[in-house]
Amino acid sequence: MSKLSQRHLLGIKDITRQDIELIFETADNFKDVINRPIKKVPSLRDITIANVFFENSTRTRLSFELAEKRLSADVINFSSSGSSVKKGETLLDTVNNILAMKVDMVVMRHASAGAPHFLAKHIKANIINAGDGTHEHPTQALLDAFSIREKLGGIEGKKIAIIGDILHSRVALSNIFALKKLGADVMVCGPPTLLPKFISTLGVQIEFEVKKALAWCDVANVLRIQLERQQLKYFPSLREYSLYYGISKKMLDDLKKNIVLMHPGPINRGVELTSDAADSHHSIILDQVQNGVAVRMAVLYLLAGAA
Ligand code: CP
Repeated sequence: MSKLSQRHLLGIKDITRQDIELIFETADNFKDVINRPIKKVPSLRDITIANVFFENSTRTRLSFELAEKRLSADVINFSSSGSSVKKGETLLDTVNNILAMKVDMVVMRHASAGAPHFLAKHIKANIINAGDGTHEHPTQALLDAFSIREKLGGIEGKKIAIIGDILHSRVALSNIFALKKLGADVMVCGPPTLLPKFISTLGVQIEFEVKKALAWCDVANVLRIQLERQQLKYFPSLREYSLYYGISKKMLDDLKKNIVLMHPGPINRGVELTSDAADSHHSIILDQVQNGVAVRMAVLYLLAGAA
């Protein structure tokens, strides 16, 4: 099989284990390409891709743009700040105006869950969800799983703990879908107020004590406290959160095992991770970022039907 089962990447929920494995095999090849002196291939020449970001981003936007350029696509970038969205233009009008310029693929980040799914019903271009509200962030989950596979040699049977603000995290949901499809044992850990009620229906273990989660897992994927999404007070203070859920290098060293530390970024240093943990030999945080380019190249290439 050399084609994805979907023409959009809206979420990990919609794709199969075979799709994920095909993306990984393709990303292995692209990882070789981007480590060569000549990092560019002509695969997407004459394909035009719009990166449409209605929410802030550093890693995802730069990673997609670099992936597109490495594949020789033509790239245009849109940010809602400074655009006619501020004059009241709708999402559909904005995207239809971009598509009128003969765009083939749209990479979109939006604060509303379901925004890329809505677009996919109304436009012909391939859509890649670059994060929709608290719903899904499929390419982050793919690069996370790809990084675990690279570090540990596989995902099947590995114990992965996702620790932190699960309630507001699109990364958590996409990671759970991806890791479960690939045969991992998944645990979520955080304060009860930051674990959504539906989480137990996803076949994950639940743990409230971070030390127990760390003792159990091969990989700790630590998530940011998303203060910008929190309408209520879910814990008394950042200081208290850090005291009970913050992870230090000493905590990792004391486990006396080869635990792998991950974080999708941006990190709140001193809150969910101390700086010495984030920068320690346990951490593969910058490997995740590097792998993001190869994984996104694979997704773009496969969705463009170039396989
Ligand atoms: N991991 C992630 O989505 O980071 P950005 O918000 O910087 O894109």
